Amino acid sequence: MPESVTTLQRTGGREISRIVYNEDTIAARVAEMGHEISEAYAQNEPLLVLGLLKGSFIFMSDLVRHIHRPLHLDFIVASSYGSGTVTSGDVNLLYDPSISLESKHIVLVEDIVDSGTTLSRLVPMLERRGPLSLEICTLLHKHIAANLILEPRWVGFDAPHEFLIGYGLDHSEDFRNLPFIGSL
Ligand code: IMP
Ligand code: MG
Repeated sequence: MPESVTTLQRTGGREISRIVYNEDTIAARVAEMGHEISEAYAQNEPLLVLGLLKGSFIFMSDLVRHIHRPLHLDFIVASSYGSGTVTSGDVNLLYDPSISLESKHIVLVEDIVDSGTTLSRLVPMLERRGPLSLEICTLLHKHIAANLILEPRWVGFDAPHEFLIGYGLDHSEDFRNLPFIGSL
């Protein structure tokens, strides 16, 4: 492991216990997901890829480069977590896309589905804006959400029930820049 990664592993006294998905594994799966999304919509239909910040920013940027069809993109900022590793149950919308969702196919891009609280709040809100369709694409899914109102159509990996960091995912804002996904 490179020196820089070793240093990152000790950020704030927290230690990464293991690498769960390495760079190559992530890249291969993200490319597959991009191709699947490309084929799911007719070429002439308007597609808006909507990323949930901040966690999805790296996944989103890799993913859209594997979607080989015209698209628009925007972001939403929804915060459901404080600084710790346990969900608070509240979702605050800090940024809302200014562009219309009406008569567009929407793919909502998430980093990880955990309790499902974020999606359960967001999906009805987005559906009220009259999209042609709404689908969720998540890199990771813990499969512990009790009442997900919309199951993700595209899931990168069925994630272990651990706190994962890296490739956009954070713990108290640390570790987002790790190129792999690790467990704390
Ligand atoms: P949910 O609302 O509980 O499904 O959680 C959604 C959000 O919480 C995700 O978009 C992440 O930002 C964050 N989150 C949930 N689990 C993890 C984890 O294991 N590592 C890092 N962030 C997480
Ligand atoms: Mg987060």
